[in-house]
Amino acid sequence: MIDYRRLGAVSEKPHTVFEVEGKMVAEHVFTRDGFSDLYSILYQRRAPTHEVRVDNYRSKNNDFPHNPTAGNDDLKRRHIKTPMLISGGTLLESRKTLFFNDDCTVGIARPNQPCREFFANGDADEMYFVAEGSGVLQTVFGEIDFRAGDYLMIPKGVAYRLQMTAPLYLFAVEAMKDFGIPREFRLAQGQLRLDAPYTHRDFRSPNRLLTLTSEENPAIVVKRNHKLSIHEYTDFPYQVIGWDGWVYPYAFSVDAYQPKTSSVHLPPTIHTSFSARGFYIMNFVPRIVDYAKNAIPCPYPHSSVDCDEILFYVKGHFTSRKGIEQYSISYHPGGIPHGPHPEMYEKSVGVRETNELAIMVDTFSPLKMTQAARGIEDSNYHYSWNTTEHL
Ligand SMILES: [Fe+2]
Repeated sequence: MIDYRRLGAVSEKPHTVFEVEGKMVAEHVFTRDGFSDLYSILYQRRAPTHEVRVDNYRSKNNDFPHNPTAGNDDLKRRHIKTPMLISGGTLLESRKTLFFNDDCTVGIARPNQPCREFFANGDADEMYFVAEGSGVLQTVFGEIDFRAGDYLMIPKGVAYRLQMTAPLYLFAVEAMKDFGIPREFRLAQGQLRLDAPYTHRDFRSPNRLLTLTSEENPAIVVKRNHKLSIHEYTDFPYQVIGWDGWVYPYAFSVDAYQPKTSSVHLPPTIHTSFSARGFYIMNFVPRIVDYAKNAIPCPYPHSSVDCDEILFYVKGHFTSRKGIEQYSISYHPGGIPHGPHPEMYEKSVGVRETNELAIMVDTFSPLKMTQAARGIEDSNYHYSWNTTEHL
């Protein structure tokens, strides 16, 4: 989370009587890590506990939630061609988990229809990177307009749905614990450091409360322990009139990220944007590259022995890879070295800037692939470095 924020009406002091239009409103304290971490307090017309029906949520989509018992695959570098995934339907219908471990999942969603139901992920904080499309993120904390290039962050348990003005292409990450700003970007008091790659002003929290039509009473689909259930109420349970605190959804445009550059190549850690238990998110954005005489801007071949690496290629010319297309995902596991294709390495000498945009997930525990990923894999990728004409 970023900082303290507040929207709408809140009481003078928490846990005291708060009346609006002569009626007492309900306080809903939304906590993390038990009661020992950040929290927000929402003020609602009614406490969100008056369900009239709970059932399994029946979905035709077997790829979200994923099957957590999937087996190990051969240790290879992988190229997953996500444009081969069928687009369409709602967020829950189109979402596909492609990789997972105990800390995170990585997937793609290509919805072109809004969901009627709200969705609350009880397993994980959620991060979407919007590669294409635009719309409104509707949440119980209020609404945020979004467009291509935005990250959308939704804390664990926050009910939301996506309205869209154009079909969406989303890179989707679930973080099981502690998603947010890396500790090293903050002062002890919580303010972002002056040398952090973004500022407090870059983060957009809801700027208006959620508005539903009087006829609308959407159910809430909840994911918990890799299973979906649907919860129905006599009336929508989150009629929020205000909230304050440190827990809320927010958006961040990758265009606001301030990249660092150097005379010679810097490691990928300088591209860090967000962190969670067991992994980091990094973004490679358009920038000036390594400017020393004879510098090699392309990354060096490396054995990062404790990390698995996912890269989602959004747009531009990616300096280190050939055969990669827009919206490809590459997966480079720990245990074997990886690096640029040789000809890309040589060609990069003398290059002074890059227009690449890619999102990286670096995990400290091995990832497993799902059936959905296997079905769209370029099986020759692992051997595509094997050339006698180059280094
Ligand atoms: Fe790497």
